[in-house]
Amino acid sequence: MTTAKHSPNVALPNYCTLRDLAVAMAVRAGELAASMRDSIEASTTTKSSSVDLVTAADKAAEALIIEGLLASRPSDGILGEEGGERPSQSGVRWIIDPIDGTTNFVYDAPDYGVSIAAEFKGEIVAGVVYQPATRTLFEAVLDGGARRNGVDLAVNPANELATSLIATGFGYLADRRKDQAQVLLAVLPRVRDIRRLGSAALDLCFLAEGRIDAYYERGLNAWDLSAGVLIAAEAGATVGNLRGGKPDTGFVLAAPPDLFNPLRDLLVSVDADLGS
Ligand code: IPD
Repeated sequence: MTTAKHSPNVALPNYCTLRDLAVAMAVRAGELAASMRDSIEASTTTKSSSVDLVTAADKAAEALIIEGLLASRPSDGILGEEGGERPSQSGVRWIIDPIDGTTNFVYDAPDYGVSIAAEFKGEIVAGVVYQPATRTLFEAVLDGGARRNGVDLAVNPANELATSLIATGFGYLADRRKDQAQVLLAVLPRVRDIRRLGSAALDLCFLAEGRIDAYYERGLNAWDLSAGVLIAAEAGATVGNLRGGKPDTGFVLAAPPDLFNPLRDLLVSVDADLGS
């Protein structure tokens, strides 16, 4: 992820205040998106490929979030999935996915959510994911733990790899998907089972609350991963890419600490972060 441009002397923001603002905007945007669900058919178009959907609700939710954030904090920067982008003068940049899991949204499946992260000096310091269909709110602040509807979250104790339930996802381009399917051939026989939910942000939150044991995916965008990675990490997950770095748009792996290395070794052995 890139660091927002800022003066070295910018004031340190209160992370809980950023989180609270993100919560307010995520809930409003989620309710707006849900209210538009039954009328989106005519507005649904595609983006990076014929299977990458975008709806009027994605755009309306992003516009609502950006307007609300900038009304409170006009000097902040923005990076939004639907094109919202402006540089930061405060050192804070908001990273927004107005609907993560748009395919589920279009098919009226419940696993989609609004994801909003606050980044300060290149580090994610607050993250919020709101699932409108279940009115579930996941949030975390850096070094402050993670919660679901106010209740503290903790990842599962590590299982053996062979008895671990692993979630993953796939990109929208055919060549990338072929490579991801090859990786899956190596992973599936070695784990309890695989889940493909359709929302990276919710995958990471479900890891944080123990509904899956680990999650990996290649080639996410910053808006898919930023809030969820903080929520998973604050719930006790080890998070990273496959080469000793932070999770990034190349690769995200999140798992309980004792499961991280065995799963990373398996993924490295099949070059899961290389190829198309
Ligand atoms: C997608 C979802 C999906 C993941 C894709 C993402 P979108 O985001 O998070 O689970 O596998 O890689 O692009 O398009 O629904 O915002």
